Amino acid sequence: MIDTNFYSLKISNITKETEDTVSISFDVDPTLSSKFDFIPGQYLTLKAMINGEDIRRSYSISSGKGEGLKVAVKQIQKGVFSTYANQELKVGQEMEVMPPTGNFVLKNQGNGSISVFVAAGSGITPVLSMVKETLSNTNQTAVLIYGNKNMNSVIYKAEIEKLMDTYGDRLQMNYVISRDDSYDGLKGRINVEIVKTVTESINKSEISGVYLCGPEDMVKNTSTEFEFMGVPKDKIHFELFFVAESEEAKEAESNLATGTSRVTMIIDDEEFEFELAMNGPTILEAGAEAGADLPFGCKGGVCCTCKAKVMEGKAKMIQNYALDPDEVEQGFILTCQSHPESDNLVVSFDEY
Ligand code: FES
Repeated sequence: MIDTNFYSLKISNITKETEDTVSISFDVDPTLSSKFDFIPGQYLTLKAMINGEDIRRSYSISSGKGEGLKVAVKQIQKGVFSTYANQELKVGQEMEVMPPTGNFVLKNQGNGSISVFVAAGSGITPVLSMVKETLSNTNQTAVLIYGNKNMNSVIYKAEIEKLMDTYGDRLQMNYVISRDDSYDGLKGRINVEIVKTVTESINKSEISGVYLCGPEDMVKNTSTEFEFMGVPKDKIHFELFFVAESEEAKEAESNLATGTSRVTMIIDDEEFEFELAMNGPTILEAGAEAGADLPFGCKGGVCCTCKAKVMEGKAKMIQNYALDPDEVEQGFILTCQSHPESDNLVVSFDEY
C-alpha cells in the first residue's frame, strides 16, 4: 500500500541549476530510508503552508539509486509553490515530504540493448534518474533526446556531461534547441522528424523501452511515431507534466449525471459520509470538505496521488493520465477527476 503520510526531511543542499530552476536535495534519516526507497521515474510530493494555505506539489526524483533524494523545481509564473521553493527555501530547513510514488518507472529492461528517452524542459527530471539507472545497472545504450529553449536553460547539464564522460558511447546524447539560431545541432521543438533523425540507425527490435516526459503534444506525437516504427505499445511509457483540459473532458464535464449520491469514503479505516451532487464538486473536494485528510498532488489527473477504489456504486472519471487500463478495470479512480454516478457510492483510499 502506498504511504500517503508526510514526513519531515531536512534540506541538505539547494543548487541553482538554471536561471529559473533550483534542485533540492534531502537528507533521509536512516529510520525512514526504506520508506524513501524509490524506483527511477517516481516522484515526491512536497507540502508547505504558504500564506496560510496547504500547498502540495509533486516533483520527480532526478537522482539515481544510491545518490540520495533530489528533485528540481522550475519557477513558473505566479506559481505559488515554485516561487517559494526558488526564493525562500534554505539549506537545513525541514520540509514535509510524501514517500516516492508514481507509475512512470523503468520497466524490465531484460530484452533489447537500447533504451530511448525523450524529455522536454523539466521533463528531464524522472528521465535523468532512469538514464542513470540504465547506464549503471545494465549493459544497455541509453539514447537521450532532450529539448530546451537554449543551452542555458538545460537543467542538469553538468550531470549529463559527467555521465557522457563516464559512459562514453553508451550515452547517446541529443540536445534539441528551439530558440537559438546559432546552435549547431538539432533545432526546433522535439517532433516526429527529430525522433526519426535520431533513431534512423537504430534497429527498432533492439529497443527495450521508450520513455517520454514532457508536454502533451510532444508525448502524443512522438509515441505515435515510435508505434509506427514498430515499437510495441507496451514498451512505450510516458508522463505528462502539463495537461490542458481536453475537449473530451469538457464535454464529459458538461454531461455529468444529475441527482445526488450518498458517498461513503474510507481512509485509514475511518469512514466519512456525505451527500454529493453528481454534477457538483469532485469526490476529492467533497471528501476534504467533509473533514477527511486526503492525499492529493496535481489535481489534474496526472500524478495519481489521489487514487482510490470504488467498492460499491459507480463513479465517472473526467481525465485520466495516471492509471493503467487494468487499474481502471479493477475499479480504481482518480478522485480529483471523479464524480458519483450512482445513488450510493463507497470509495476506499485503503485498497491497493
Ligand atoms: S491529485 Fe494528481 S491525479 Fe489526482
